[in-house]
Amino acid sequence: MCGKAALVHCCAMNILTKRRIIVGVTGSIAAYKSAELVRRLRSNGTDVRVAMTAGATRFIAPLTFQALSANRVHQHLLDESSEAAMGHIELARWADAVIIAPASADFIARLSHGRADDLLAALCLATAAPVAVAPAMNHRMWAHAATQENVQRLQDRGVSIFGPAEGEQACGESGLGRMLEVTQLLALMPALLGDGPLRGRCVVVSAGPTYEDIDPVRFIGNRSSGKMGYALALAAAAAGARVTLVSGPCALPDPGCGIIRISVRSAEQMYGAVLHEMEACDIFISAAAVADYRPRSVSAHKIKKHSNALTLELERTDDILGQVSALKQRPFCVGFAAETDDLEENARAKLNAKSLDLVAANQVGVAGSGFDSDENALTLYWRDGTRQLPRASKQALATALVTIIAERLHEKYRTENS
Ligand code: PMT
Repeated sequence: MCGKAALVHCCAMNILTKRRIIVGVTGSIAAYKSAELVRRLRSNGTDVRVAMTAGATRFIAPLTFQALSANRVHQHLLDESSEAAMGHIELARWADAVIIAPASADFIARLSHGRADDLLAALCLATAAPVAVAPAMNHRMWAHAATQENVQRLQDRGVSIFGPAEGEQACGESGLGRMLEVTQLLALMPALLGDGPLRGRCVVVSAGPTYEDIDPVRFIGNRSSGKMGYALALAAAAAGARVTLVSGPCALPDPGCGIIRISVRSAEQMYGAVLHEMEACDIFISAAAVADYRPRSVSAHKIKKHSNALTLELERTDDILGQVSALKQRPFCVGFAAETDDLEENARAKLNAKSLDLVAANQVGVAGSGFDSDENALTLYWRDGTRQLPRASKQALATALVTIIAERLHEKYRTENS
């Protein structure tokens, strides 16, 4: 972990100190990861109680969680000794937050239908504390309409959905359905507890490329994968913000975690979607690689190769970030500068020309940073300051950048009100 990311991680962990968290474990092979989750929470001073379903105990022994949490594990709804000590109602009252990790398809179905047929389901019904589920299942089970309806119902009721992630699965198949890694779950806990530095803020992030149609077959696009913007959306959600992600065409899955994704194709559509979200927006992060030019006219038919050369007439697109920044009630505006040369000069020129609060400049056209890579390096510029974020994963950089945005926003409000 890079220095700055480690610092952010530390802040998240401090927020967890002395908090009372129930970790619910259900029947999934990913249950082994929950042992590490409990260990990490405990080592940061969290008071952890573990509630297991019968299915979970087939994958991992309650004794493991008892040793790691230093508390008795709760398993049975109708257990006289347990009800005499801390029964499901007391547990439900005791918790500051409940996280079900892993949450199997069956448990999600039971929760969405309000069942109370075991201790964990009953305490989820009885608690006033925020509840999060971290799904873990085969990708076809996750994609099934029944699961998706159940997840939507939970989201509509305010349950946070952490993940799932995409990748290789225990069944040997690959797809969306893996439980998030423990570090990702820990990073999302402050938001669940309503404690992140962007708590109560509304953040809009633009991500990915735009496609400008030439004819029904061809378009002008660019190399953006959306990874940087999606990482920023997740980091802002982890910092407690309500996040809307306006995404150009890219192959990344819906980020989950309560983030609302609006999919667009062209710069014009992105402009419309972003401007529509501005009324309630506190922070706009413009990470999308928006086309600067589009064909003046789009051919209704496939252009035939009748001649040796073809001239396309292009016209300027609207500058989305520039328009947002010019709004009377404008949010805190963060732009990106994708540069091959003269990073600082070009980034500062964009900061001034678009009256931005902060610019994140990245070198493009080199291997291992900028477009499509998993890593990046950023140099941040604001009117009277600068900060280097050395090369790291885009997620670590996004977390660091969001922390700095929160600091700068706070500073801006402080000086405006003094
Ligand atoms: O998506 P990835 O593969 O992860 O790659 C990440 C990235 C390299 C795309 C990202 O880090 C990045 O640099 N995004 C901005 C790319 C860009 O278009 O930069 P620019 O210097 O051309 O534009 C400056 C700023 O104006 C940007 O914030 C851009 O979003 C915004 N802009 C540009 C043109 C336009 N018509 N409207 C805009 O809002």
